[in-house]
Amino acid sequence: MAILPIRVFGDPILRSVAIPVVEIDGRIKKLVDDMIETMYDAPGVGLAAPQVGVGRRVFVFDIDDEKGPRAVINPELMETSGEWEYNEGCLSVPEYFWPILRPAAAMVRGLDLDGNEVTYEGDELMGRVLQHEMDHLNGMLLLDRLNRGERRKALREIREAALG
Ligand code: NI
Repeated sequence: MAILPIRVFGDPILRSVAIPVVEIDGRIKKLVDDMIETMYDAPGVGLAAPQVGVGRRVFVFDIDDEKGPRAVINPELMETSGEWEYNEGCLSVPEYFWPILRPAAAMVRGLDLDGNEVTYEGDELMGRVLQHEMDHLNGMLLLDRLNRGERRKALREIREAALG
């Protein structure tokens, strides 16, 4: 396993729509292993393939619920419900957290590494991670979930920090 460099805000791959995995081969399995290692090292609760420079529809997560790390290949967001505001962060926009309102619960369906269909669902942190990682596969970042005024302020903060 290897720790991969995490792409950060400004990298165009984070703005690209990831393409489906055609075959779950050794390369995808190694990618998943490396993504899990990278997620734990960061540390984070979720990581999507574009964040390590791979434009494929794969994400991993571990919300510390004792079920261990899980990977989803070609996930689809099937259902969301409710509303929940959470102070959300992202490994690709490090050190920033913004209160973001999203549906509270989400259900994602995809494939595991053996090609079997899997469904993950949950509310609060689980629901949030599933939606956040789905966004990454669609070229979206948490900044896109802020309202216009908040986004402008957030971008200004990031720009000022980058200038030191
Ligand atoms: Ni993220």
